Amino acid sequence: MSLLNPVWTSLLYLVAAVFFILALRGLSSPRTARRGNLIGALGALIGVVTVFLSAQLDNVPWILGAIVVGSAVAAPVARGVKMTQMPQLVAAFNGVGGGAAALVALLELSHAGDPWVRLAIVFTLLIGAVSFAGSGVTFAKLQELMTTRPVVFRGLPVVMAAVLLAAVAAAVVVVFTGSLPLALLLLVLGLAAGILLVLPVGGADVPIVISLLNAFTGLAVAASGVVLGNVLLVVAGTLVGASGTILTRAMAAAMGRSVAGILFGAFRGGSTAGSTAVSERPVRSSSAEDVAVLLGYAQRVIIVPGYGLAVAQGQHTAAELALALESRGIEVDFAIHPVAGRMPGHMNVLLAEANVPYESLKEMGEINPEFKTADVALVVGANDVVNPAAKTSSGSPIYGMPILEVADARQVVFLKRSMRPGFAGIENDLLYEPQTSLLFGDAKDSLAQVLGAVKAL
Ligand code: TAP
Repeated sequence: MSLLNPVWTSLLYLVAAVFFILALRGLSSPRTARRGNLIGALGALIGVVTVFLSAQLDNVPWILGAIVVGSAVAAPVARGVKMTQMPQLVAAFNGVGGGAAALVALLELSHAGDPWVRLAIVFTLLIGAVSFAGSGVTFAKLQELMTTRPVVFRGLPVVMAAVLLAAVAAAVVVVFTGSLPLALLLLVLGLAAGILLVLPVGGADVPIVISLLNAFTGLAVAASGVVLGNVLLVVAGTLVGASGTILTRAMAAAMGRSVAGILFGAFRGGSTAGSTAVSERPVRSSSAEDVAVLLGYAQRVIIVPGYGLAVAQGQHTAAELALALESRGIEVDFAIHPVAGRMPGHMNVLLAEANVPYESLKEMGEINPEFKTADVALVVGANDVVNPAAKTSSGSPIYGMPILEVADARQVVFLKRSMRPGFAGIENDLLYEPQTSLLFGDAKDSLAQVLGAVKAL
C-alpha cells in the first residue's frame, strides 16, 4: 500500500522539479554554485523518497542494497577526487547514468504492450548505451589510460554508418514486435556507436564531448521517465539535456569550434591531429630574482593562471604575490580564459579558494585589450590558452580558439617545469620570442621564490 496519495505525490514532484531549476540557476555563478549544488541534491532526495512513499515497489531490499553499494562507492570517490580530475569523474558518473537508463528500459520491455512505450524504450536503450560507452572512452582518454589524440582508422565513417543503420533497423523491429534478442542487439550497437563516436575526438575537444554525452544521458533519462510513467524523471532528464546542450554550445563557441567539427573534424585530417614535437630552439631562462625585479618595478601586471597552477596548488601563493605587488602600488589582474584548466570555471573556483576578489578576475574579452598596457604578463602553468598557433597555424588542434593576447605585453614570463607542451600537445612559439623568459620549476615553488624576492626588494 502506498503512503502518499497521487495529489501529494504530484506536489512533491513539483517541489523537486522547482529545486532542480533553482539548482541550475545557482550553478550559473561561482558565488552561488555550492548552494545550487545542495539545492539540486535536496531535490533528488525529495524525488527518491517520494518514489518510495508513493509507488508499489517490488524488490525493495535489492533497491536499498543497490543504493547502499552505489553510495559507498561514489561518496569516497567524489570526496577524494582532485579538482584536476573532475572531468573524468563527471564522465564516469555520466556514463553510469546513461547505462542505468538503458538497463531500466531493457527490463521494462517485457511489460510494454504499447508501441509508443516501446518507442521510448528503444530511444532510451540506444542513447543510454551511446552515452555509457562514449563516457567510458572519454574517461579513458582523460585519465590517460589511452591516447588523448584522435583515433581514426580507414573505413571508420562506413563502419559508423553501418552500425547506425543496423541500430535503426533493430529499433524499428523492437517497436513493432517487442523482441528481446533484438533489444539486446540494439544495446550492443549503441555501445559500439558510443565508442566510435568518441574515438576520433582528441585533445582539447574531449571535455566538450563530455558535456555532449551529458546532454545525451539527460535525454535517455527523460525517455526512461516516459517508459516508467514518472513525470519527475521526464523533467529532470529534460533539464539535464537542455543544460548539457547549452554548455556544449558555449564551450564549443569558446574554443572557436562547431559541434560537428569536434565530432567529425578528425575525418577530414589535420585539424585535430596535433604534434608533440619539442623543438631544440634556445629559450631565455630566468631566476626568481630576475622575475621579482621585472614584477616589482612594473606598473601593471597581468597574471594568467592555467592548468599547471591547479596541479601545483599554487593559488594561495599566487594570491599572496598579487597582494605583495599591489602593496607596492602595482595594478594586478588575473586573466581568465574560458577553457583554462580542465573544467569550465576551473580558474574561477581555484582563485576563489584563495580569496582572490572577483573584481580582480577579468574575463578574456575584457582583459585582452589591456595586455598592451601591461608591463608583464605572468603566465603561471598555462600554455594552450596563450598559444598564438590558435591564430596562425591552420593545421593546429587549437586553430580558431580565441586566446589571451599575452604577446601584446612588454614582457612575458612563463612559470612551468619543462618545455613540454600543454593539453593539446603542440608547441608554443611564444616561448621562444625575445620578450619571453621562463622560470622553470613547480609553479607553487617558483611563485614562493618570486614572492620572497619581491618582498626583499
Ligand atoms: P595547458 O595547455 O594544459 O598547459 C598547462 C601547462 O602547465 C603546461 O605548460 C605544463 O608544462 C604546466 N604545468 C603542469 N604542471 C605544472 C606544475 N606543477 N608547475 C608548473 N607548471 C606546470 O593548460 P591551459 O593553458 O590551462 O589550457 C587548458 C587546456 O586544457 C586547453 O587545451 C583546453 O582546451 C583543455 N581542456 C580544458 C578543459 C576546460 S573545460 N577548462 C577541460 C579539459 C581540457 P610543464 O609540464 O612543462 O610544467
